Amino acid sequence: MVEHNGGSSYISCGSVTAVNGEWIRLIGSIIMPPDTKTAGLYFETNYKSVPESEDLIDIYIDDIVVKKVDIVGVDMDFTPLYEIHKDYFKIGVGIVSYEIGRTEYTSIVKQHFNSITMGNEMKPDYILDYETCRKDIEKYNLEPAIRYDNLDVGLKFAKENGLGLRGHTLVWHSQTPDWFFREDYSKDESAPLASKEVMLARLNSYIRQVITYCQENYPGVVYAWDVVNEAIEVDDGNEGGYRSKDSLWYQTIGSEFVEMAFTYARKYADPEIKLFYNDYNCNIYGKVLAIYDMAEELKAKGLIDGIGLQSHYGLRDPSIIDVQSTLERYGKLGLEIQITELDINTDSNTEEDLLKLGTRYKKLMNLYRYMVDKGLANISSVTIWGLSDKNSWLNDKKRKYPLLFDDYLQPKDAFWGFYLHDSIPSY
Ligand code: G3I
Repeated sequence: MVEHNGGSSYISCGSVTAVNGEWIRLIGSIIMPPDTKTAGLYFETNYKSVPESEDLIDIYIDDIVVKKVDIVGVDMDFTPLYEIHKDYFKIGVGIVSYEIGRTEYTSIVKQHFNSITMGNEMKPDYILDYETCRKDIEKYNLEPAIRYDNLDVGLKFAKENGLGLRGHTLVWHSQTPDWFFREDYSKDESAPLASKEVMLARLNSYIRQVITYCQENYPGVVYAWDVVNEAIEVDDGNEGGYRSKDSLWYQTIGSEFVEMAFTYARKYADPEIKLFYNDYNCNIYGKVLAIYDMAEELKAKGLIDGIGLQSHYGLRDPSIIDVQSTLERYGKLGLEIQITELDINTDSNTEEDLLKLGTRYKKLMNLYRYMVDKGLANISSVTIWGLSDKNSWLNDKKRKYPLLFDDYLQPKDAFWGFYLHDSIPSY
């Protein structure tokens, strides 16, 4: 129970099902603005319940960790993050199914975001059904078998909570199984690649099945699809601006796979669903030009609605001016822009660096709003790539602190910077 504004109430910020006689762990957090008496409450407790009678339960509590408990007099109903930016764009977060299963995460998502992107579960390696494909190769050769359970997790959560969902991602060289590109769906990596005709048929069928399933079963939930992800790479060894070395899409179909993917997506997607090309390092000179040219051609054919800028940034790189000129350039295409996977790679969590991170987020959010205000870029959503530092993909080799919430789901200066709160310096 939480006391606030002289009253008291129950706030749902974490729950678990207790099993008789077994220890369970309950974790949750309550978020409050920095200018109130305290920055927040975090609790984590182990407890064991032993039913004495039908309506009397003893609860044993152990190992309670509580931070900053002085919350009397706090306004709990402060403006949610998405409301702060509601006149500009949707505010989204990348989440995974593990988090959807836990109230401590979902309570924050429901409170502060109006869009989600599944970090992994809507990618081909989570959807393609190898066992069924292999059971009847003739039947599934041109119409790959799909499993829907992984798709359902995010779609169901979004639908139940009135959230929009960015579908990520239909066509990508990564997280698409190697066997999908081989004759007879062979797992032998020396087996021949399937022909161009076969791969075009598989591409068409996969896009049709996934898009159709989402819109028929969860109408209005998906508002944008990343149709193609990371097809452009201007490094040495890649052909004509396209990622060729490590892309089996390129190696089986050629650069035409991009246009064909958009053609199929346009054919099957409901007209209000926006089709995006999504990529990282979109500010690097050669890559900007290659993406621009490709998108211009797709636009002329009426196949694309927007560019997704992943925006995996550093604390200093790219500069705000660089981000601005990149946005301006893509803005000139007259397509929508979405910031699809924003995070700021930082390996220090000193107070000073966390404040710098807050300022960096504040500068970016101010820039995005400025670009919209001036009509320079039609930014329609901004998504942060993960909720808690603890679960960031950037922790792969070394501990990082890139996101808005810390390991205990407490809002960091980064959150208040993103919120454009006065407590965070703008420069
Ligand atoms: O599912 C397997 C599991 O079975 C296995 O035991 C475990 C062992 O490592 O790996 C699990 O898969 C991991 C998967 O995330 C789910 O946790 C992969 O190894 C891991 O590589 C994968 O990382 C994802 C990465 O894409 C893969 O490219 C990240 O979570 C995800 O955040 C990241 O997101 C991408 C965007 O889709 C596209 N833009 C770049 C961005 C960052 O890489």
